[in-house]
Amino acid sequence: MSQPVASQALAPPPPRHVAIIMDGNGRWAKARGLPRNLGHRQGVDAVREVVRNCRKLGIEYLTLYAFSSENWKRPETEVAGLMELLRLYIRRELEELRRNGVRIRIIGDRAKLAPDIVALIDDAETKTRDNRALTLIIALSYGGQDEIVAACRRIAEQVAVGKLAPEQITADVLAAHLQTVGIPDPDLVIRTSGEQRLSNFLLWQTAYSELIFIDKLWPDFAAEDLAAAVGEFQRRERRYGGSGE
Ligand code: FPP
Repeated sequence: MSQPVASQALAPPPPRHVAIIMDGNGRWAKARGLPRNLGHRQGVDAVREVVRNCRKLGIEYLTLYAFSSENWKRPETEVAGLMELLRLYIRRELEELRRNGVRIRIIGDRAKLAPDIVALIDDAETKTRDNRALTLIIALSYGGQDEIVAACRRIAEQVAVGKLAPEQITADVLAAHLQTVGIPDPDLVIRTSGEQRLSNFLLWQTAYSELIFIDKLWPDFAAEDLAAAVGEFQRRERRYGGSGE
């Protein structure tokens, strides 16, 4: 049955941008006596399901924390396994993503990635750049502090050559030098597995994001969990430091 027009008008909007810290793949595998990389493989199925369900929920931007700048410290076999999963995901899903109007953007330090992965993600970004149904941002070799430091360096270079005065540096100027330029800040950050921290994820951009922590491990996260998180977000009052009056 369709909702009455009045209640539709009053319904709080869904989050435009959802960012997810996909945590718990290792514990999911361990609980089953499996190697950690099988947990990551199962995690890719959860990625596919979430990406397919964003549009139905009104989400326009989805950022997934796939590999942090600190994840390079993991054992070589695990890092290699994760990189292989990313290769497979982009190779296998690119056509469907492109057909479904998904624009792909990758944020993170490309200098540390293998040249074939850089080529794959460049190609994925180019082939999908005009799509607008959903923007899928994959954070890969990404660290929030590194991103802010890199932005500060570029701003400092402009000050050094006299292109910018120190008093012209504002929050907007800094945001314009981040890799997320042009992408609205996340309205909602979800972290699975019960851990409650940001782990160097989008530190600047999450200043006013709503945070939702879910006890399920990432491979068990399904479309109904995303819908439930969106529902909880819509029940929250966002005040951005104001009184809400
Ligand atoms: C955290 O779980 C998860 C990761 C470090 C990797 C996430 C990657 C994927 C889900 C697959 C690839 C992604 C895409 C976009 C194709 P953990 O290993 O830290 O789990 P634990 O805390 O239980 O050990």
